[in-house]
Amino acid sequence: MPTLLERPISERKTSSSGIENIIRKALKRHKTPLMLIRRSALEQQYFLFRRNLPQVGIYYAIKANPHLTIIKTFIRLGASFDVASATEMNLVLSLGAKPERIIFANPIKSIEDIKHARNRNVKFMVFDNEPELYKIAKHCPKATVLLRIKVGNVGSLVELSLKFGADPDQAVFLLKKAKQLGLNAAGISFHVGSQCTNAENYIEALEVTAAIFGQAKKEELDLNILDIGGGFPIRHFDDDTHPNFETIARQIRIELKRLFDKNVRVIAEPGRFLTGPAGTLITQVVGRTFRNNKNYYYLNDGIYGDFSGIVFDHCKYEFKTLRRGQKFLSTLAGPTCDSFDTISMSEELPELDVGNVIYVRNIGAYSSASADSKFNGFASAKIVMVD
Ligand SMILES: Cc1ncc(COP(=O)(O)O)c(C=O)c1O
Repeated sequence: MPTLLERPISERKTSSSGIENIIRKALKRHKTPLMLIRRSALEQQYFLFRRNLPQVGIYYAIKANPHLTIIKTFIRLGASFDVASATEMNLVLSLGAKPERIIFANPIKSIEDIKHARNRNVKFMVFDNEPELYKIAKHCPKATVLLRIKVGNVGSLVELSLKFGADPDQAVFLLKKAKQLGLNAAGISFHVGSQCTNAENYIEALEVTAAIFGQAKKEELDLNILDIGGGFPIRHFDDDTHPNFETIARQIRIELKRLFDKNVRVIAEPGRFLTGPAGTLITQVVGRTFRNNKNYYYLNDGIYGDFSGIVFDHCKYEFKTLRRGQKFLSTLAGPTCDSFDTISMSEELPELDVGNVIYVRNIGAYSSASADSKFNGFASAKIVMVD
């Protein structure tokens, strides 16, 4: 058995007893629901990415978790940022990110937001269709643009090529159009789908992109930026067996070397990978009953709050308790009056009482970010940074 230091960092986890001590400590100071974000985990994920994909510039996709301290942490570590709207742009700029460190990566942008980007000097953006190019050329002349292409999202938790992405066979035409309109047509971007555990998606996307780079060169269009998007997977369950980030990163490294010139600048937009593992959500049982031959536990956070990822992120979580003992079939529900606010129909959990804790690890991405903190008057979790 290798020692802790010999094991890859991604496999070094805070042990169950370690996290439970952190939770017990936090409960003495804060009410639940509570989202603990571990700074050490943010740093660990950032450096894990850097080590495994050293030639790839990191643009943190703040949609995963736009908490101020998280953004500040990544600014301090030297990251750049992917923003989807003027509001996200303002947020990262207000915290000290430089405009030239931002990519406006939403392929569809309102005219107002494009004008705003020009005024804030954010001139690096993504498009995926011709009408969008006219908008950019008119309202942010000379912008540097990447064309988002449609790529396979096979097996990814969240499909991100359903609504965005030009057909690859239109790529050179669209990039030439961008150039004719006075824009700096710089390259290609893609997204293989979020929580992508299938390395083939990256490999195929890189092959398609390399073919576009080759074809563009023949037509005297020199492309020099490749944006490999997000999608890098994390472990949501202790016994997940899917290929891990290091395995996928190794294949990406091989393909980048095989397919692209050294002068091509490669960037990525990781979201989940950087913040997911840092977050632990702590909830408490506010009511319990026995019905339909199961324990029903009503928690003080639910689908409208920090478990919104069950709907929007299609995510499943591993629910843990501080109690030990025989496990029984249980249903978990949120606090609102809506039946839809059911977190899980069947979990094996020890017998719990009102006040007992249920916690979930690796829930730092696409959770509080999409929570509606008002519905039925139930607040979503307070976010607290811990070491
Ligand atoms: C354009 C874009 N970039 C990056 C991301 C982040 O993806 P992930 O969290 O899978 O790394 C997303 C997620 O929706 C996205 O739409």
